[in-house]
Amino acid sequence: MNRLVVVSNRVPAPSMGAQAGGLAVALDGLMEKRGGLWFGWSGAVVPEAAAQSPSIERSGGVDYATIDLTREEHEGYYNAFSNGVLWPLLHTMPELMKYDRRDARTYREVNVRIAATLQPLLRPDDLIWVHDYHLLPLAAALRARGVLNPIGFFLHIPFCAPDVLAAAPEMADFVRDMLSADLIGFQTDNDAHNFIAAAQILAGAVRGPSGSVLYGGRRVRVGVFPVEIEARSFARTAAEMADSPAARRLRRSLDGERLILGVERLDPTKGLLQRLAGLRQLLEKRPDWRGHVTMLQIAAMSRKDVELYRNLRAALDREAGALNADLGEPDWQPLRMVSHAVDRATVAGFMRQARVGLVSPIRDGMNLVAKEYVAAQDPADPGVLVLSRFAGAARQLDAALLVNPHDSDAMADALDSALRMGLEERQARWRALWGAIEHRTPLLWGRSFVAALLRAAVHGVATPKLTLVPHSIPVERPRSPRMPLERVRAELDPTALAAMVKPSRVLN
Ligand code: G6P
Repeated sequence: MNRLVVVSNRVPAPSMGAQAGGLAVALDGLMEKRGGLWFGWSGAVVPEAAAQSPSIERSGGVDYATIDLTREEHEGYYNAFSNGVLWPLLHTMPELMKYDRRDARTYREVNVRIAATLQPLLRPDDLIWVHDYHLLPLAAALRARGVLNPIGFFLHIPFCAPDVLAAAPEMADFVRDMLSADLIGFQTDNDAHNFIAAAQILAGAVRGPSGSVLYGGRRVRVGVFPVEIEARSFARTAAEMADSPAARRLRRSLDGERLILGVERLDPTKGLLQRLAGLRQLLEKRPDWRGHVTMLQIAAMSRKDVELYRNLRAALDREAGALNADLGEPDWQPLRMVSHAVDRATVAGFMRQARVGLVSPIRDGMNLVAKEYVAAQDPADPGVLVLSRFAGAARQLDAALLVNPHDSDAMADALDSALRMGLEERQARWRALWGAIEHRTPLLWGRSFVAALLRAAVHGVATPKLTLVPHSIPVERPRSPRMPLERVRAELDPTALAAMVKPSRVLN
């Protein structure tokens, strides 16, 4: 089996403790099963010039190789460009970005440094899988160093339309850089179509056969691979944790009131202010719910060095205070806000007692919380998922009550219907939702991406023109041959492939 090399900004190395965020959750299982090398940032910020070689720790068959970032790199690459520009831009919220071309330069330099530090660790038959918006130019930076291994790239967040994308001047270069990969994966059709359009309009690529684009004499596959959760094990955890001390305390404190639950990182894409507007509207339009319903919003503070996030925290604190002051009573408050992270198992127990799971992002790549809420329900007495139609998960979870988070009347109506919904309808909707996630796992997701990457490497027509691709980073002539095809074919053993269900597909 070829060794898998995963590259992501965050690396859940054992010494770093638990990691928040869908990316780490999705990849952990695959790496645990398959072993390999996981490369990325150590989480440490050092005053200046970081060590050239990564530190490596080994645990359960996985080598975790990490580098520190200097203060300047952390500010320019992580805070300012990744989270202050790319995050809002790719979520189609360009008005929230704080663009400075110097940060774009630092972002590129860090990617080049990651490529330089990773290259000596690579073996000729490694498969390289790069993750997320922090690393858009990495495939090109690796190719520029003569790396010829198959490279896959997966974007965990949305990909916006090309006209929006152009708001950051470097995006045409980054799209070209992404095209150095053999396979580029997205969460939804919409993201993949936006990328193909951007590759055509901004990079001059041509649409190729069966979900591919032709660029620089190569065929690059583009596919849709919705990230999944371990639904059955999450369901077991929720059932066990429904009676944890924390869950019991929550139940006691509710004293029979119905619970609406929201759980996310505190982030401008999550629609938290709009959600509070929906709750306010519900309680104003239907005052009979006052005293009978409580919303618990866990909004874990994240990216606190980015101004956008600090401002959002301040705005939320103001609105939450105003909501409780305007609508609360001496013996009842409509809203409880928690700004620290609560561990996943405890949250699973909370989800099981929530009558409504409210997941209403303005835009979201997938949103695994929506899937977790479904998995956490008691099939005999399930709660109702109220889900934004702008979350990637809405494509699979269309039996939820789908809402437009901008429309506070619609949010209030959906909350009211969810709170009033009878057992039969709740069960019918839950069965449909459970059916959409029950047989899928992050392991199958990861395996299907890796299988598609191997297919792309075999059929991807990596012609000698590879060296001529007009990257924004100069490309050197390859120094070693591509991975021998027999080795790739050995891994593409038909019995192994047949054992996989097909959770994803390459676009047509
Ligand atoms: C999202 C991104 C991940 C990121 C996570 C947590 O899920 O797709 O790449 O790791 O958020 O954000 P943070 O900035 O703390 O890594």
